[in-house]
Amino acid sequence: MSQSNGNVAKRVLKSCLWFGHYLSWVYGYLKLMAGCNALKDIKILSIEFCSICNLRCKYCFIEQKGRARFLDINIYEKLIKEVAGNPKYKIKIMEWPISGEFFVYRDYKRVIEITKKYMDENPNFRPHVILNENFMLFDEEKIDLILKSGVVKQLICSFDGHDAKSFEDMRPPAQFEQCLQNFRTFVKRNKELGNLVHIQINNGRDENSIGQKFSEEMEEILRAGDSVTQWKPKFWNESFNGSKKVYKPAKGFCSFVFNNVTLSSSGEISKCCMDLKGSTVYADLSKYTLAEIWHSNARRQFLTLMFKNRRDLLKGCNTCAITFTNNDNRYTNKIRTIKRRLMSLIYGKKYYLKPLE
Ligand SMILES: C[S@@+](CC[C@H](N)C(=O)[O-])C[C@H]1O[C@@H](n2cnc3c(N)ncnc32)[C@H](O)[C@@H]1O
Ligand code: SF4
Repeated sequence: MSQSNGNVAKRVLKSCLWFGHYLSWVYGYLKLMAGCNALKDIKILSIEFCSICNLRCKYCFIEQKGRARFLDINIYEKLIKEVAGNPKYKIKIMEWPISGEFFVYRDYKRVIEITKKYMDENPNFRPHVILNENFMLFDEEKIDLILKSGVVKQLICSFDGHDAKSFEDMRPPAQFEQCLQNFRTFVKRNKELGNLVHIQINNGRDENSIGQKFSEEMEEILRAGDSVTQWKPKFWNESFNGSKKVYKPAKGFCSFVFNNVTLSSSGEISKCCMDLKGSTVYADLSKYTLAEIWHSNARRQFLTLMFKNRRDLLKGCNTCAITFTNNDNRYTNKIRTIKRRLMSLIYGKKYYLKPLE
């Protein structure tokens, strides 16, 4: 197949997928407007435990913007108690943290305890918990806490660049040696305990890494991963990586507003887990239950505006070009698994060790 035919096929496939999704969103919207219970639509809980971080990564757009530094742990417990105790909820995934660093949060031990408690008490509450880690503070004690808790199923390890220098350039003020040492301890302990956690390496490479071979240590990290994802920072249009720098709202709904609930460090619910500034916040979880928020007039109103292609009237969404994105980051996710298998079939088992062109 020629390249242009391949591109056409890709575009047709994307349009079909988009159309299929759009039908399901219209169905979700009509269901809500008709007053039906829509709690089972929530598949992913994304939690921001703090709006501050120990690092200042070059491409990360976290901004505190007057938000609370730390999430009130009682609000976290309130959320977990509600979703674990009500069988109408069918939460599949919890992603910690969507921004900021988990171990900067002073109550991280309580997060583990609370989650475990409600899992133990409610056999229906079995979310696939994903922890994102920058590895600067992840020492032996914390590693054991995470591995032995039985709560976390997947660890996404953020290792950008192709060597120590490009890593430190993308993730200041992280020290590569420290992160590597913690990573080695983590891999060792995970093996000793029977590979309890799936290790995923998230490797971003900017222009400094284009065409460059991985250093020995970086190769060691990538090889130790059970899976590897790669991203190329190009442009951010407020919320997402796009091939073109377009700062305009996309038309219609987006996948996030139908399957995701994001809890910000201020204890508020926002529309989107890509919103690391709290600009799409629409309800306060300290005042209402999640069920009330999910069925609220505020949510109906913003979905109606999206339905009418008036995202330009919605704060935060008015600079966003997302329509549908696979926000299921589980390594078991079908689309991700097929992509992984195809890549290794075409480019070889360790396809991710190739330098980026
Ligand atoms: C936002 S961080 C939050 C968790 C934790 N602090 C960490 O760094 O792993 C989650 C992931 O997003 C990635 N990330 C940051 N900026 C990005 C960007 N502009 N494009 C794509 N991914 C980005 C990071 O490399 C990291 O792997
Ligand atoms: S990518 Fe993670 S470690 Fe880096 S600044 Fe953002 S939240 Fe912090």
